[in-house]
Amino acid sequence: MSDILNVKIRVMQLSDVDEVAAIEQVSQINPWSKQQIQECLDADYSNHVLTLNNNIIGYAFIAMAGEQADLLTIAIKPTAQRQGYGRQLMKHLIKVLKQYNVSELFLEVRISNVAAIALYQQLGFKEVNIRRQYYQTANNIGREDAKVMMLKLK
Ligand SMILES: CC(C)(COP(=O)(O)OP(=O)(O)OC[C@H]1O[C@@H](n2cnc3c(N)ncnc32)[C@H](O)[C@@H]1OP(=O)(O)O)[C@@H](O)C(=O)NCCC(=O)NCCS
Repeated sequence: MSDILNVKIRVMQLSDVDEVAAIEQVSQINPWSKQQIQECLDADYSNHVLTLNNNIIGYAFIAMAGEQADLLTIAIKPTAQRQGYGRQLMKHLIKVLKQYNVSELFLEVRISNVAAIALYQQLGFKEVNIRRQYYQTANNIGREDAKVMMLKLK
């Protein structure tokens, strides 16, 4: 069976926190702590994991408020990047949000994050704002701007 057939996307559970936190540590510049991840699970968010052969290789956290939603974070394990999984996860999330009648999906992304920006543009997200000095840099020296991007779902 090919890898593609073993890919599943499902709602994140409390028992996924360790695996998600491990990927978060190696994929993000300022990773969320285990506690921050747990808090997102306690909240009424739409959080999903993507599994390959039952192992988590990616995840996304989405906060919903009425007809608007915010993609808080998304990551694919470094060894599994650039194989289409990020796009697959995003497309699934967009489908889920449409079922919830969400009309606009927002996100913030570092202006240096060419991979993520290319993915979002490919999916139809448009830049709607710039947040100056929004992010801490990896070495905590200086700050980095964020692009605010939005996808219309209706
Ligand atoms: C951003 C991220 C989730 C993309 O996931 P992915 O599975 O690697 O991306 P995909 O393979 O689905 O790529 C989809 C499209 O994104 C763009 N893309 C992905 N990686 C890229 C890279 N390294 N350079 C340029 N474009 C890239 C391409 O347009 C790609 O389409 P193509 O392969 O047909 O050209 C992944 O790189 C990641 O986890 N990064 C670290 C965490 C992060 O930055 N999250 C975003 C926070 S806002």
